[in-house]
Amino acid sequence: MTDRSQAAPVIAIDGPSGSGKGTIAARVAERLGWRLLDSGALYRVVAWAALGRGMSLDDAERLAGMTASLVIEQDPGAIRVDGVDVTTAIREERISVGAAAVARLPEVRQALRGVQQGMRVAPGLIADGRDMGTEVFRDAELKIFLDASVEERARRRHKQLMEKGSGVSLRDLFASIQARDESDRNRAVSPLRRAPDAISIDTTKMSVEAVVAEVLKHVEARGLTAGTARGGEG
Ligand code: DC
Repeated sequence: MTDRSQAAPVIAIDGPSGSGKGTIAARVAERLGWRLLDSGALYRVVAWAALGRGMSLDDAERLAGMTASLVIEQDPGAIRVDGVDVTTAIREERISVGAAAVARLPEVRQALRGVQQGMRVAPGLIADGRDMGTEVFRDAELKIFLDASVEERARRRHKQLMEKGSGVSLRDLFASIQARDESDRNRAVSPLRRAPDAISIDTTKMSVEAVVAEVLKHVEARGLTAGTARGGEG
């Protein structure tokens, strides 16, 4: 258990893929000058390392042992494993599929728990994921649950991929987001769900700026910014 009186504050931001979590978490972290944890990237790293070693994605014990041996360094916008920059490599579709598979294994989740909790450092941590508020940081000072309609999330992902030059169709994306939601929400361990004490924000019709402003309003209301907030730019 974490000792609340000594631990740095945590803002947990959970939600399904395409809800805007990553963007919002990064902006809020920047505004507050707090550390950022992209927990989904950690599951991607495990899948990347396992596939690179030719390991089976359902050998829970071996995967957990390997996970514990990895040296993972995460900075805003970059992630390294054992000194190798994997920022781009972990975004490939085969890694998305592999990450969803390893995320179903309690042994892997347990091995990553310490890595995640170790990132809780002063002045504070913005933790982005699926189970930040329900499992890893149950005592977070503020919990936000972001959501958006499947149509809007598929549209956002489509725009992102088009900008990167990928020709994937909106219809295929809609189906793959629905399948991923199904897997994330219905898995036996740490399924995606809103913590009872989380604040829900439906971002379907909101701009990024509006969502950031809404989150910061709650941050301020809880007195979490004292001495740490950066100016009102951006
Ligand atoms: O957010 P993302 O697409 O990068 O997440 C990759 C996978 O990891 C996805 O299948 C959900 C899973 N995940 C999880 O189980 N728990 C988290 N805290 C974050 C992500």
